[in-house]
Amino acid sequence: MSGLDWTACPVCNLPLSRRDHVLRCADGHSFDIARQGYVNLLGRTPPANADTAEMLDARARFLAAGHYDPIADAVAAAARGTRIAEVGAGTGFYLARVLDAHPDAEGLATDVSVAAAKRAARSHPRAAAVVADTWARLPLPDDSLHTVVCVFAPRNPAEFERVLRPGGRLVVAQPLPGHLAGLRERYGLLGVGEDKSERLAASLPGWDVTSRGRLTDRVEIPAAVVADLIAMGPNAFHGLPDHVEDAFLDVDVEVIALVSPTAA
Ligand SMILES: C[S@@+](CC[C@H](N)C(=O)[O-])C[C@H]1O[C@@H](n2cnc3c(N)ncnc32)[C@H](O)[C@@H]1O
Ligand SMILES: [Zn+2]
Repeated sequence: MSGLDWTACPVCNLPLSRRDHVLRCADGHSFDIARQGYVNLLGRTPPANADTAEMLDARARFLAAGHYDPIADAVAAAARGTRIAEVGAGTGFYLARVLDAHPDAEGLATDVSVAAAKRAARSHPRAAAVVADTWARLPLPDDSLHTVVCVFAPRNPAEFERVLRPGGRLVVAQPLPGHLAGLRERYGLLGVGEDKSERLAASLPGWDVTSRGRLTDRVEIPAAVVADLIAMGPNAFHGLPDHVEDAFLDVDVEVIALVSPTAA
């Protein structure tokens, strides 16, 4: 079994089953499993603002520096069950940490970027990846997951509720206003959707908060890590600064676990 075995057809919503290198539904729609192990279930060209391979390389280098490890630990501790998807998974870094902490779990990474799905498919032996748009219908059956993880990525509460089993969990990591504050000021970084804590809960009406924690840190990081942090985000589309220096990294992130409203 792998995460690909619990996907649904993006055309007709019937379950997909795997045979050799193809996922197929009972209605005859079929989707090739790419050599790199991911499947494109988007059904259209990815949007122009999907993360590029260069952005993902920068993200992977930045995450490898370890500054967001406490976020990954908090996300992993909040996840439950054996079927876990990360939406907007990027490199699959967080999903891999979740799977490390949950040895019986299988993982599925979704992302609208093909480059991300390629990388995420290799992020962990128990992870698979599909190209899919969180704003559209997710290619997953109703009531099929124990946990949905969403780290710094778009949220679609109605879809999360549909794909989670009753009592299933949503684990969100969301930047708070102080996140990357110094760097944003210095390099004019575009906002990363930083939000007030209350707004996060308000955007998920009916969901029961089971745990929430705020992670803060302030550490000096070398110029190369600053450059990766800038290059891994939307600034990559608007030109990168010619020169960066060592700087302080402000971390201000909330990790919140919620139980799906259908639990009641
Ligand atoms: C800020 S990155 C976070 C990636 C990863 N969760 C992490 O924290 O390392 C946002 C990710 O969401 C993806 N994304 C943006 N819009 C999306 C959408 N509509 N559906 C699915 N993924 C999306 C991007 O391609 C990118 O990989
Ligand atoms: Zn179908």
